[in-house]
Amino acid sequence: MSPLSITRTLPADATAAALRADVVAGLSRTPKQLPPKWFYDARGSELFDEITTLSEYYPTRAEREILLATADRIAAATGARTLIELGSGSSDKTRHLLRALTDLHTYLPVDVSESALRAAGEGLLAEHPGLTVHALVADFQQGLTLPPAPGPRLLAFLGGTIGNLLPDERAAFLRAVHDLLAPGDALLLGTDLVKDEATLVAAYDDARGVTAAFNKNVLAVINRELGGDFDPEAFDHVARWNAAQEWIEMRLRARTELTVKIPDVDLIVPFAAGEELRTEISAKFREEGVRTELAAAGLRLTEWWTDRAGRFALSLALRV
Ligand code: AVJ
Repeated sequence: MSPLSITRTLPADATAAALRADVVAGLSRTPKQLPPKWFYDARGSELFDEITTLSEYYPTRAEREILLATADRIAAATGARTLIELGSGSSDKTRHLLRALTDLHTYLPVDVSESALRAAGEGLLAEHPGLTVHALVADFQQGLTLPPAPGPRLLAFLGGTIGNLLPDERAAFLRAVHDLLAPGDALLLGTDLVKDEATLVAAYDDARGVTAAFNKNVLAVINRELGGDFDPEAFDHVARWNAAQEWIEMRLRARTELTVKIPDVDLIVPFAAGEELRTEISAKFREEGVRTELAAAGLRLTEWWTDRAGRFALSLALRV
């Protein structure tokens, strides 16, 4: 019998309802936009995993380099007995942390994908037979309730995914993290850093077109889940650096004037030729900005580590 337990903290239809609401709101407004979380069905998760292996997409390799170099210091600084990981996906980079966290009792991976949680959880249990792994199928933006687990607790949010949240969403998210933690618990946060535009744009517009396929996958999700008739071929992938906001924007640009029908939500969506639908922002950070945003949420930055090339940062912050 597997000691892996999986808890679904959202009703099974909550995801469907949230998708409908996001599609109706996001495609009825000007400019059109959709939240990036809808990329990640099975195909989208596969495409994302492929992105992480592309030569242009440096964040995954840079973060792994930092984790390898700092895992022992993270373990010493936190003494964590419970590791909570939001958006754990394949739990790939987590392995370095788990190896270093010698006092660890419980691992709580949280993800929207139950299949990813199951696969990752079983793999980790094989490597750490004494570990309690309690996976949570949840959307961390919709409020999290954690099962009881021994402190001190370390909450990890890696990959730079916090950059996919808008500034007000980020503030609410960090406040929620604060409220989830007890004094003395810690947050380990991965953030991609501001750098030259060419490097950033290439990371989101790779030569092989994997990111373009990932971007267009959201249209396939809407077609499948809501009966839409999007033609992915009718849109171009766009990755643009917004220098004022310091974020990358991914967009889908209609090649011609066209109309999309989404019957399950009674929506007819007109696109002008060249009209763009924003599908993702991926904010890039600086140390002072991260420190300020953490402090505003009651989290004190205690360590700031980057890879040797200074492309990506891991922050360790204490819940005060
Ligand atoms: C989910 C934050 C790791 O914003 O870089 C990759 C998603 N989008 N290529 C990012 C993504 C386009 C990615 N993270």
